[in-house]
Amino acid sequence: MADTAQPHDLPDDPAERVGALRAVIARANELYHELDAPELPDAEYDLLVRELRALEADHPELAVDDSPTLAVGGAPSATFSPVVHAVPMTSLDNAMDGGELRAWADRVVRGLDGTVPAFVAELKFDGLAMSLRYEAGRLVQAATRGDGRVGEDVTANVRTIADVPQQLPAAAPEVLEVRGEVYMSREVFEALNEAYLAAGERPLVNPRNAAAGSLRQKDPAMTAKRRLSFWAYQLGEVVGGPAFASHHDTLYFLRGLGFPINPQVRALGTIDAVEAHCTHWERHRHDLAYEIDGVVIKVDDLAQRERLGFTSRAPRWAIAYKFPPEERTTLLRDIQVSVGRTGRTTPFAVLEPVFVGGSTVSMATLHNQDQVAAKDVRPGDTVIVRKAGDVIPEVVGPVLSLRPEGALPWIFPTTCPCPIESLLVRLPGEADTRCVEPGCPFQRDQRIIYWGSRGAMDIEGLGERTVMQLTRAGLVHDAADVYSLTAEQVAGLEGFGQVSADKLVAAIQGSKDRPLPKVLTALGIKHLGPAASQALAHEFGTLRRVFEATDEERAGVDGVGDVIAAALSRWYEQPSNREFVDRLEAAGVNFGSEEEVLAALAARAAIPQTLTGKAVVVTGAVPGYTREGAEEAITSRGGTSPGSVSKKTFALVVGEGAGASKLTKAEQHGVPQVPAERFVELIESGELPG
Ligand code: IVH
Repeated sequence: MADTAQPHDLPDDPAERVGALRAVIARANELYHELDAPELPDAEYDLLVRELRALEADHPELAVDDSPTLAVGGAPSATFSPVVHAVPMTSLDNAMDGGELRAWADRVVRGLDGTVPAFVAELKFDGLAMSLRYEAGRLVQAATRGDGRVGEDVTANVRTIADVPQQLPAAAPEVLEVRGEVYMSREVFEALNEAYLAAGERPLVNPRNAAAGSLRQKDPAMTAKRRLSFWAYQLGEVVGGPAFASHHDTLYFLRGLGFPINPQVRALGTIDAVEAHCTHWERHRHDLAYEIDGVVIKVDDLAQRERLGFTSRAPRWAIAYKFPPEERTTLLRDIQVSVGRTGRTTPFAVLEPVFVGGSTVSMATLHNQDQVAAKDVRPGDTVIVRKAGDVIPEVVGPVLSLRPEGALPWIFPTTCPCPIESLLVRLPGEADTRCVEPGCPFQRDQRIIYWGSRGAMDIEGLGERTVMQLTRAGLVHDAADVYSLTAEQVAGLEGFGQVSADKLVAAIQGSKDRPLPKVLTALGIKHLGPAASQALAHEFGTLRRVFEATDEERAGVDGVGDVIAAALSRWYEQPSNREFVDRLEAAGVNFGSEEEVLAALAARAAIPQTLTGKAVVVTGAVPGYTREGAEEAITSRGGTSPGSVSKKTFALVVGEGAGASKLTKAEQHGVPQVPAERFVELIESGELPG
């Protein structure tokens, strides 16, 4: 197979396909050890190995001695000295769905002559397997897995990992090998990649690659900077230690010696419970501060493990339940540029559609010119696409080994993609390239789309397609125009009938009563988001007062500041924007009322400002309050109620149905938690209930 072939373009003929698969897998194994360029995502690699294994099973005549399916992993590299593992570090077999998980459990039960064992489920950490060897309680060697038999000596680098004990208590066995996973937390990874991108360097694909690269530094001081972490999950060689009956026993023992044991280890008695546990973590994997790519299920009883034994590559007593991949490779067909409502342009990737992270992705953002350059992605490349949970899909980087000959670097266009082809400008010191033509029809469309969007006026049916139809037909020139649309006009558009036209017009008219913060947000003023809109509306009460206030008055509002205050002035100075505001008012859009302002001021004066300067976050239900009511109770006492927890948060109020990510964040930052039942005490006193 040629070097430029795509993994998804393999030949159909079994003999050719087996050859092609072996070549791609061998190349991936080789590249895995270079680790300086994004590689085939693990999931993609696993799929190829699985397919090769299946083909080899169906076509025994194609078997060879040196097939990559017969090796556990890659061979050790020359940079670090080889270490022969005292007890081999085997791999795990995978289950890709509930069916495969049950099939494994059935095999286990058969192997135990019908006994259903107790299972232990652990998270499958997405890092690097590591074997730590202690002699007389001292860490003497740290080795990677390598091919399972021979790994690499990375002791000097592993000594820099704070989680790894250097010296064990006196009770430690004479020889103790601890196996576990070295990983990089999301927080460290994100900071590292931001720094890489800012320096114009190619970012790392994921925390696992970052951890691998960090362990391969020649200078341990570099590894130390990467702030790696460690979870212990298995014993290797043990001489002179206690006898263990179960996996649980070994984990307690390791914890007692000071090794970090993950808090999510669970004992599960039935395969139903195991499957439910796997589904739970598949849904909640993003709540964790580190990445996982599955759940590992192990038989707890060590005597039962003995009976089950190993296949040629993995234990029969454990299985890895793998989550669907969040990274896949696909073809980058083209790079295009979109224009936002403020004229900011965003390059985006046009992709051969690929199913990743739970949905089919055919476009992905590339953020800005510098990121395209840092990632060095070129049309024609096979690229790694990542979609993690609700996060927008992203092109991580090219698979350089699959770059077609003659693929040229992409050049940022000099003109706007809109029909008037206005010039694009990038000011010195700015990351963004902008279309600065106020009359740009693409910007205008985006402003109207934004007006109707969920976080703004929330007009159902006024989406991208409809807005474009309305502007193309000359019926609408800005958001104020939508309020004079008639059902007859809308019904004349393609795809609309009388009923859908009536519905859209009713939704538009209904939006006039949206609360003032929504109207402010909908104006789409640069830098002015929902939180600052809320603060401004709360302070000034009417849209006119917001604009008539001085910059100083606006900047003084908590959560607003100089940048937003000045952006508002600049916006309102434009005669076309003032005229737009007048037309919105004439259309009957809610601008807030003077009477309400006066009533609110009087009410506020009567409420003691116990929470001035304090941020209180609420998660879950607070008895006696709606979500908005609880927030109002906080802000009316001078506090703020942000949507997420940070180290500045004064308290996290925790009620029934609390969100895991807020709780985790609060724990991370040491934010005090207050049970929802004590909410009233908190807001009335402004102190943490004792
Ligand atoms: S146990 C003999 N437990 O998954 C059993 N492995 O393909 C050895 N991994 O190389 C592994 N989390 O790097 C085990 N809780 C966990 C794990 C785990 C991640 C990795 C490990 C291993 C690979 C198996």
